[in-house]
Amino acid sequence: MSSADITTCKFIELRVTEDNMGDPKALFSSHLLTPRRNNAQLLIRPLQIDDYDKGLLDVLSQLTQVGTVTREQFQKRFQEWKNAVDTYFIIVVEDTQTKKVIGCSSLMVERKTVHNAGKVGHIEDVAIDSGYRGKDLGAKLIFQLKHIAVQQGCYKVILSCSEKNKPFYEKSGFQQKEVQMACYFDQVKSKL
Ligand SMILES: CC(C)(COP(=O)(O)OP(=O)(O)OC[C@H]1O[C@@H](n2cnc3c(N)ncnc32)[C@H](O)[C@@H]1OP(=O)(O)O)[C@@H](O)C(=O)NCCC(=O)NCCS
Repeated sequence: MSSADITTCKFIELRVTEDNMGDPKALFSSHLLTPRRNNAQLLIRPLQIDDYDKGLLDVLSQLTQVGTVTREQFQKRFQEWKNAVDTYFIIVVEDTQTKKVIGCSSLMVERKTVHNAGKVGHIEDVAIDSGYRGKDLGAKLIFQLKHIAVQQGCYKVILSCSEKNKPFYEKSGFQQKEVQMACYFDQVKSKL
């Protein structure tokens, strides 16, 4: 299947990467992902340190302002995520023909005192490249993150989104709960 076909094909077979347990490039083991059929063009896998060179930031820039992030900054952040064991689970979709990252999404596991020292998953930074939208890829990323959250013992996953994206998350089993509050620190934000 060529990358041109991708834009016209609603149903795309996805495969989850083969065993990369112990792969130092990967953020976490792909064993945590639920398996999918093999031999397809689009691969859902854990974030790898070289995704910086595969267009990860381009995808994120379709979600929000990324700013100027150097390879060194990204690699340092990647190592911080990796050192925080069982806390950061970032997954991507790679188009293996173009070798580009065309989607991404993150889960952060918060360890609480309440609810019997329970865990809560926070989903962040969900983005699919504009040329690949409407093909169930976003829903598949959310499905994988929910699967990881359950495996990690989270009793719920939460996220905030725009009014426009509410139907997307509702289709993935989310429901609106309370309101989101934010307080921006302009003195810090202006330096980013
Ligand atoms: C939101 C986004 C991630 C959705 O990704 P996607 O791969 O196009 O979505 P999917 O194809 O997996 O959609 C799954 C279902 O949700 C629906 N859906 C997706 N986005 C929708 C929207 N904005 N409004 C209504 N329904 C939507 C789809 O029609 C599909 O429904 P179906 O199962 O009945 O066919 C993508 O549009 C995107 O990256 N947007 C820009 C960044 C962004 O806003 N991210 C979300 C931050 S909270």
